[in-house]
Amino acid sequence: MRSRKLLKLRNYDEFITEHYDIIEQAVYPDALEVFDDSQLKLKDSYLDTIVRLTVVAEYKDEDTASHIKRVGHYCSIIAEKLKMANEIRDIIKYAAPMHDIGKIGIPAEVLLKRGRLNNQEFELMKTHTIIGEKMLEGSISGYLNVAKSIAATHHERWDGKGYPNRLKGEEIPLEGRIMNIADQYDAMRSERPYKVAFDHDKTVNIIVKGDGRTMPEHFDPEVLAAFKESAEELRKIYEKYRD
Ligand SMILES: [Fe+2]
Ligand SMILES: [Fe+2]
Repeated sequence: MRSRKLLKLRNYDEFITEHYDIIEQAVYPDALEVFDDSQLKLKDSYLDTIVRLTVVAEYKDEDTASHIKRVGHYCSIIAEKLKMANEIRDIIKYAAPMHDIGKIGIPAEVLLKRGRLNNQEFELMKTHTIIGEKMLEGSISGYLNVAKSIAATHHERWDGKGYPNRLKGEEIPLEGRIMNIADQYDAMRSERPYKVAFDHDKTVNIIVKGDGRTMPEHFDPEVLAAFKESAEELRKIYEKYRD
């Protein structure tokens, strides 16, 4: 019995190592580029853990390591235009990549479905916000607290028609409002099994003027103004960290 147990343990160990190698080779080196050298030295192991956790969730999702890297940069740029303090910008930059971490709790057949989700599947998908919030809540870390807030509120809309809580206006924390517009920009620029990628100008035009599905009233007017001001920089980030 003991040797059987040992064998089991060894298999498990091999599984973990192998899995870890795959993650590391497939996405991790890329994901790590979100941090520049000096910052990495400072926060090193702590942020390393966060990146790994994020990558695990992304591993199951259609979103890529480049997506999580880009949104951190976008949020930081928009926060700068909103004249937020450097310290807070920095926290948002590293917290934003965790926005969809709750997707780890969504079944793969829903997450990776080709084609649009039906109502029931969409309701299930929406819960990634609540799962993410639960995963990240109760931490003593400022990064994880902001990450929790972003995970919970990045699909809320200024006009109160978002999810999961239909929060309205300033009921939505600012970091959630910033992440929402950053995520929308990146989603529209990206190709999906059910949609083509839009170019930069078309994407900005839709966000600023609306196309029926995405409307300017979804966004905080001040965040929208900061987005407009940031647009050119966002385009550069998208091109620099393309998939
Ligand atoms: Fe999300
Ligand atoms: Fe996202």
